[in-house]
Amino acid sequence: MYLVSAVIISFLLVVADGARILGVFQFPSFSHQIVFRALCKELSLRGHQVTMVTPNPLRDKSLVNLTEIDVSSIVEVLPSSKSIEFTMSKDTHTHEIMIAFYDLSERIQEAVFQNREFQKLYKDPNAKFDLLIAEALHPGMYSLAGRFKVPVIGMSSLGVVIASHESVGNTFHPVLYPDMNLPYVGELSLMEKLYSTCFTLWSLYYYNYHVIPRADQISRKYLGDRLPYLGDIGRNVSILLTNTNMAIYGARPYIPTVVPLGFMHIEPLKPLPEDLQSLLDDAKPGAIYFSLGGNVKSSHLSPHIRETITKVLSQVPYTVLWKWEDDNLPQATENIIYRKWLPQRDLLAHPNIKVFITQGGLQSIEESILAEVPMVGMPFIGDQAMNVRRIAQLGIGVEEDPSKITVTSFRNSIFEVIKNCTYKQNIKEWRNILEDQPMTNMKKAVFWTEYVIRHKGAPHLKTPTLPWWKYFLLDVIAATLLICLVIVFIIFKCIMISANICNPKKLKSD
Ligand SMILES: *[C@@H]1O[C@H](CO)[C@@H](O)[C@H](O)[C@H]1NC(C)=O
Ligand SMILES: *[C@@H]1O[C@H](CO)[C@@H](O)[C@H](O)[C@H]1NC(C)=O
Ligand SMILES: *[C@@H]1O[C@H](CO)[C@@H](O)[C@H](O)[C@H]1NC(C)=O
Repeated sequence: MYLVSAVIISFLLVVADGARILGVFQFPSFSHQIVFRALCKELSLRGHQVTMVTPNPLRDKSLVNLTEIDVSSIVEVLPSSKSIEFTMSKDTHTHEIMIAFYDLSERIQEAVFQNREFQKLYKDPNAKFDLLIAEALHPGMYSLAGRFKVPVIGMSSLGVVIASHESVGNTFHPVLYPDMNLPYVGELSLMEKLYSTCFTLWSLYYYNYHVIPRADQISRKYLGDRLPYLGDIGRNVSILLTNTNMAIYGARPYIPTVVPLGFMHIEPLKPLPEDLQSLLDDAKPGAIYFSLGGNVKSSHLSPHIRETITKVLSQVPYTVLWKWEDDNLPQATENIIYRKWLPQRDLLAHPNIKVFITQGGLQSIEESILAEVPMVGMPFIGDQAMNVRRIAQLGIGVEEDPSKITVTSFRNSIFEVIKNCTYKQNIKEWRNILEDQPMTNMKKAVFWTEYVIRHKGAPHLKTPTLPWWKYFLLDVIAATLLICLVIVFIIFKCIMISANICNPKKLKSD
């Protein structure tokens, strides 16, 4: 037994050793990139030759097996961050946000293909790889699997849209598992069910008939016309890695092709810088940590929101650490300390931090759960609204809608989370649940990546697929209705005929 497993293990090690992996992660958002970077770094440390295309390179010289192609030049095609906030603001309809997102993604795809250094790579006839890992949120780069003739792993730094679930054949249901861009958690009202169903059908249509064909055209422009159709590559991904921890995304069915992960970006705790350490040690009644993450800047908040927040935070009996990204930091008040950057993960782990006021980004929530710090969620863009509702539903934090914020509501939210110990208890429980796993999520991700390399794809994991109308049995229901109609019609006809036959007799006997 021991010998057999030893042989198997060494066999596995030999076959998956030193593979050439191409990772293409084009979306210029730091919180997305840290998830991809973590996996690429780990794969390179395991002896694979990893080439990573990213706008946020690690630039770590000690990672000798990791080659980074810096595409940060693509920020030129981005609209200013203010207009991103506008197009992705909560008041815009979800489908408009999706259209804006896909338009932006197309421009990014094109800009990445135009990057000089990346061009050298994909035009090089001698460049060879064993595997492509590409972003699943916008699948334009899947085409490189056709260019290099390699299997592809799709990866998302958060969940994936319903259309991605559908394309790999995973279960989807507009009512049980609404799209991650809709802010629905728990049981849906009838109106929400209708909206979610219409949105699902629209998004499947828009994705398959607009997004994919357009992205396919862009890929052909740069990679040549002999590629398989992008939609076919998308239906052919070997593994889809999603970053969906169960607390936020809930339990749901996954076919073997889809591997849910979580906590991918988490690194071991480091000691705090001395000034922060002593500041927090001295914060005896406790401290509040305020950060809106990388995509929403505190300095871009509307004056009303900013003043309300400042007013409340300057009156609480706690030390406040506020991450403020702008170069002109506001004047620090007695208890508020502004910093351009703060080591969030290590800071949250300090026992004096009582509450984390967050925009509700997935990575921030994960760090908060690990540190057992309950949250006040203030969602602005993207999946944040859904995440924050979920936090409130789990009882590990409360929601503070920034568009309706008042001094009283904000103060109540903060004190509720600090004074009511249920939030702390709940978040402790969730941490225990999420950490109780057969292996770490990073090990899981590495295993499935090397699995695809070893088997040169994973078509055997694919489950059968159906178009959505067959999946929802609309053809069976239609056939059943038709049969019922025919039967009713026959019965009706029989009654009519027998009535006609009976009546003359009746007349006669009368
Ligand atoms: C680089 O890869 C080799 C094998 O290809 C491995 O032995 C070595 O440990 C790796 N080094 C680093 C720093 O990742
Ligand atoms: C504490 O919070 C929980 C969960 O939100 C709530 O059910 C409970 O009533 C609160 N307790 C107090 C004393 O406010
Ligand atoms: C599907 O994937 C397999 C291997 O993973 C590959 O051989 C095949 O060419 C792919 N087909 C398409 C249409 O991408």
